[in-house]
Parts: sequence; C-alpha cells; structure tokens
Amino acid sequence: MPVDALQLRVDVNDMYLPVEAVVFYRQGTPCSSAPDEASCMSRFANARPAEVKNENGLPLNQEYLVYSRGGEVGVVQGTAVGAFLAPIDNESEATATVFYSITRGLAPSFEQLGFAPGCFLGQFKPSPAGFSSIQENHLDGFCSPRRRVRYDVDRKGTHKVVPLAPAMPVPNCKLPPIGGRQSEGHPCERRPDRDEVGGFFAECAEMEAASVGAFLQLEAELRALAAPRALRRRALRSARDEASHARWMRALAGRFGKTPRRPRRGPERTIDVAAVAIENVVEGCVFEAWAALVATWQATHARDENVRKTLTRVAEDETRHAALSFDIARWLAMRCDDQTAVLVRAARANALGRLRAHLDEEPPSELQSVAGLPSAAIAKKLYVAWLEATERMAS
Ligand SMILES: [Fe+2]
Ligand SMILES: [Fe+2]
Repeated sequence: MPVDALQLRVDVNDMYLPVEAVVFYRQGTPCSSAPDEASCMSRFANARPAEVKNENGLPLNQEYLVYSRGGEVGVVQGTAVGAFLAPIDNESEATATVFYSITRGLAPSFEQLGFAPGCFLGQFKPSPAGFSSIQENHLDGFCSPRRRVRYDVDRKGTHKVVPLAPAMPVPNCKLPPIGGRQSEGHPCERRPDRDEVGGFFAECAEMEAASVGAFLQLEAELRALAAPRALRRRALRSARDEASHARWMRALAGRFGKTPRRPRRGPERTIDVAAVAIENVVEGCVFEAWAALVATWQATHARDENVRKTLTRVAEDETRHAALSFDIARWLAMRCDDQTAVLVRAARANALGRLRAHLDEEPPSELQSVAGLPSAAIAKKLYVAWLEATERMAS
C-alpha cells in the first residue's frame, strides 16, 4: 500500500528555545485513507523520534521522515530514509537520502565535510547510476576549509561520497576571535609567533586589515539585496573603523618589534540572502560580538597603557559593529524562508560551539598581563553573561 503523505522534518534546538519541528519537504495529503482521520492527523502532527540528549542533557537536533499509510503513522531516520524512499527517481529523494544519512552521523560527518546540511537541497542532477551532486563547502565562517565532494545516489537509495580536489587549500587554522569581522573563505593562517606580545598584535593587525574587505563586501551584498541605506552606510563606516584598527594594531606590533603580513583576498562568490544571513550571524553576531567583549576587557585590564588606550577605542567601534550585525540579522530575517532560518540558527549554534572550544585555550601569561587578554576561567564566565546579552539582542 503506497503512503498517503510524507514529510521531511528537522527538529531545531539551539539550546535556548523550545525544540521546533521545521518541515523541509511535503508530499501528499496526510491520513487521506485513514479510517479515523482525526486520530491519524494528531499522531502525524506529533510524530517524532525518541529524544536523544547530549552530554549536557540538552536534546539534540533530529532529522527524520514522517509518513502516513492508511491509519499507520511512522518515523524513519538515517540510512533507512533512502531505502524507504526507493526507488529514488527524483532530485528531492536523492537529496533526502544523503541529507538524512549524513545528519544522523552514519556517513562522513558534517564537520568532516564542512558544510551545512540544507545546502544539499535541490542541487542533485540525474547521472548514469541515479543522481549526483557536487558540493563545495562554504558558509561556515572564515576558518572553514573549502572542500569538494561528489555524492552519488543510486536508485536503491544507497549513496557514496567521492572526495574531489579542494577548490582552495586552507592552512591549519584555529579560531582567533580578535580584530573584527572576517569573511567566509578568507585564508586565515595563524602566525607562528602569535603567543608573543608583538606577534599577537601583528596578527590582530592582519585580522583588522581583513575586516576592511569583509565590511566592503558586506556593503556590496547589502546593496545587491536592496537593503536600507542606513545599514549600508553603517557597513561603510565600519570598514573605515577597521582600517584605523589595522593602523593602530600595526603600531602596537611595531612597538614590540613585529610587522604584520599583507592581507590575502578571499575567493569571489555569488550573493544570496542565505549566504549573507549565515555569514552575518557567524562573523557578526557571534565572533565580532565576542571580539567586542574581549576588547572591552583588554581596555581595562592591559598592563600597558598604550594597549589600554588603543583597545578602548577599538572596543567602542567593535561594539557598534556587533550591533550592526544584529540589525542586519533582523532585516535579513524578514526576507528569509523557513529553510534559510533553520540554516542560520544551525550556523549560529555551530559557531557558538567553536567559540566555546576556543575558550579552553589558556592565553600565555604575557598576553594576559601586557595585552590584557582574559584567562580561560574568566573568559568562560564572561561567555555566560555575553551569551545571555546576545540572546536578548537576537530576539
Ligand atoms: Fe569590527
Ligand atoms: Fe576591528
């Protein structure tokens, strides 16, 4: 007996809001052949898999397919989705086969592949064995490597992942949330002398210089999306601020005997609402907002008077830049569909995870004293308060 209806759903839990099921794809009329339609509809609406919790006791995001067949309502997850949908005879089914396998951790993980699950949707094309899609990772902040893979899905609902040569090699990169906004794909190479005061400020200068380009690019994107003039003007002003920060940081680096490297350009890319919204939430609402708080801390805790003076001005600007990111996020949210909204929230949760991981790194004691960086223990306390404040700004 064929199914009456199926829905591909994702439960989104970003830790601070109730779990919410978002429907990515619908087909058919639920319960149309059920003997007791009302009971079937209620079970269909509420169907979800058993809850899985992470180590902190928070429910994990779940992705699943819900179907109704006569009076029966069922939930399917993981690689079973491909087998359930077989024969795979359209792009949506091919997409679902790969999407659900990967997000259930049964194939190379999201982290290894480096891109958001929703990027799959609608990008498969017919191939001799079934359907194929070449994916290039993106959209996950300036440290994301750009890797390429091909997904082959056959008619039986199984798939394989074929690695391809990377579009752009990316050096080993840890997250340094300093200096301001970056842009996706920007090649970020940590300086080998970053643990020394001079090297640290030289790296800050490099990041600040890269932020100039990131804000100019943001302004171009806002223009392309017909954003209000006020937002565009603020992006341009931010670019000018970052140019000043780069000069000031270069001067600090010079005082400690170091010279910044020239910034390298990131790759060209196409503009769309989803990409801009994701990059804005990651680079602006998470990393730059955190950088603003760290700069504020440094401004009062650095032993060196010049550092305190410089960071006081930087902190003021970075706080304004972070506020701009939240305003842009609100404007973009009005233009985003449900699927993009899910991707934005997933990207934010992912960026917060990367930031939290970074907080475990204890800065060298010289950077804590001379540059005023918070210790790991203090940074974790600041993070809790910061998170609450950014939650309020985001709502
Ligand atoms: Fe900034
Ligand atoms: Fe900056």
